[in-house]
Amino acid sequence: MNTTFLKACKGEKTDYTPIWIMRQAGRYLPEYHTIRSKCTFLELCKNPEQAAAVTLQPIDILGVDAAILFSDILVPLEKMGAALEFQEKRGPIFLNPIRDKNAVDKLGIPDPEDDLGYVMDTIRILTKELKDRVPLIGFSGAPFTLSTYLIEGGSSKNYINTKRMIYEAPDLYKALMDKITDCTIEYLKGQVAAGVQALQIFDSWAGVLAPCDFEVAGIPYVRRIISALKEVTDIPIIYFANNGATLLDQSLTSNADVLGLDWRVNLQEVIKKVDGKVSLQGNMDPLALFLPDNKLEQRVTNVLEQAKGARGHIFNLGHGIVPETDPAKAKLAVQLVHEISKKMR
Ligand code: CP3
Repeated sequence: MNTTFLKACKGEKTDYTPIWIMRQAGRYLPEYHTIRSKCTFLELCKNPEQAAAVTLQPIDILGVDAAILFSDILVPLEKMGAALEFQEKRGPIFLNPIRDKNAVDKLGIPDPEDDLGYVMDTIRILTKELKDRVPLIGFSGAPFTLSTYLIEGGSSKNYINTKRMIYEAPDLYKALMDKITDCTIEYLKGQVAAGVQALQIFDSWAGVLAPCDFEVAGIPYVRRIISALKEVTDIPIIYFANNGATLLDQSLTSNADVLGLDWRVNLQEVIKKVDGKVSLQGNMDPLALFLPDNKLEQRVTNVLEQAKGARGHIFNLGHGIVPETDPAKAKLAVQLVHEISKKMR
């Protein structure tokens, strides 16, 4: 097995910088469309053979150093009792937004095997298929990000319903967050038992919170998840707070092994701040994959230069790869990261 990714997460020496790409299995790949055209997105998530096949596509096509389970952060929420649809063009929709005590009380805590067995089965298929190849990353959303979907009923512009609940009904918000957190702990423990070798917690919308609100409504729940996981496993845990430059000090208290960084930050400045406590993952602008090849090479070199001095560095984009990306560019980026980082050693 290629363990370069796992070593970099733990801050051990590697021969080159490992790379994987957020949203690496998905709509920019024609091979994904071939499978996806025969079913809905949720049906695909719930079909272990097909979900495993889609997970493996970027390993074969791009040559990345880790696989990430094909699923979605919203899948466990459906099993808490929140009816979920993915609508073409509109994205995810929760049909009955959670806005009062009655709705929070009704939410349950799903059992990973009984309720989310299709995810666990996908992981079991993948750990077999990937045995001699690359590690498998499991994942969840962070409680704040998950709460925004439940409360808003889908994606949002200014998160008004979520922030109003945080400000006007803090006890209700806490009750909701405690349930989401308990669900996430059980779900991630299930993924570990099924065989994932690393975990990433996606806090995609953390960056909309002021630091004082993140302190109350965001980071304590992430900390609780990571400390519960650390009691049962020592696999690396990555915490990615998107648009989180202003939340870095607080993100460090999450006790994650790796912090994921978006492209808005300068890695050298982050390295000064984190002082060897964690490894770093990131942080090329996903749109840099639209640069001409020679400029892309420069950009990859810049990121690798900036990452010098980090305890460990895992190359990634600063957020998900966009559907319009040419897969050949993503493949070139993977090759460039491998070649250039080898020469820098
Ligand atoms: O390759 C991988 O990264 C694994 C699979 C994965 C998906 N979603 C598949 C997906 C992962 C890790 C996610 C995480 C996810 N889902 C996040 C956090 C990461 C991030 O980008 O910030 C969030 C916020 C979601 C919620 C979500 N899922 C939205 C808002 C949407 C619609 C918008 C969009 O990007 O399509 C989805 C749908 C989704 N999740 C697709 C895929 C491949 C597209 C579904 C399709 O085929 O139509």
